[in-house]
Amino acid sequence: MRRQIIAGNWKMHTTRAEAIVLTEAIKQALASYDGEREVVLCPPFTSLSAVADLVGDTAIGVGAQNMHYESAGAFTGEVSPLMLTDIGCEYVILGHSERRQYFGETDALINKKLQAAFANAITPILCIGESLAQREAGETLSFIKAQLTAGLTQITAAQVSDMVIAYEPIWAIGTGKTAMAAQAEEVCKAIRQTVAVLYDTATAEAVRIQYGGSVKGSNAADILSQPNIDGALVGGASLKSEDFVAIING
Ligand code: PGA
Repeated sequence: MRRQIIAGNWKMHTTRAEAIVLTEAIKQALASYDGEREVVLCPPFTSLSAVADLVGDTAIGVGAQNMHYESAGAFTGEVSPLMLTDIGCEYVILGHSERRQYFGETDALINKKLQAAFANAITPILCIGESLAQREAGETLSFIKAQLTAGLTQITAAQVSDMVIAYEPIWAIGTGKTAMAAQAEEVCKAIRQTVAVLYDTATAEAVRIQYGGSVKGSNAADILSQPNIDGALVGGASLKSEDFVAIING
């Protein structure tokens, strides 16, 4: 059985003080949570250390929203995997569509980061997803398969079993347009089938596949009840503790 994973991607929101308030509120709301679903908070770099310290004594995990693939070096402005593990960060979101779109991240670069995450025992959340134009042209499944195959270059079956794949249709991110549960399920199922073809059935059954894109309390239960959806990557609704907790309980 795959344990569902709900991750909050705070994006470029929250000062350190705000991050502390939000984390405390989530911690308090989950104080008696049974832990059925895994919960991960992904604040901006400047708050990562503070958030990691705050959740240190709980079951809540912490993730970064990006990282460089080298451990150290002359890469001004970058943060390394070593720096993330040093502060207790266990997850990293890689290849988010905003990184691909605004910062020119390619499948090849994202794959290097994925390899670096595994080399440093950080669990990657690899984001993939089609644009509206691709969906309207009927290219969703072929694009997703190609993006996933490129992203997983040189990644072993054991590593894929441990990672998280987030299906995030670009047209549903921050737009309020959630994919219908059946639409999301169709693609997540295709992702699992692609993993089975690239690796084997056991790996496909083990990998956790999240859906992301306008997930909120009101649609979480529907999305999370789909057989091939193992959690959610939540943007906007992760910035308010009651909204985020509603999804976790959804
Ligand atoms: P959203 O963002 O929930 O605000 O649509 C999701 C994401 O970008 O991970």
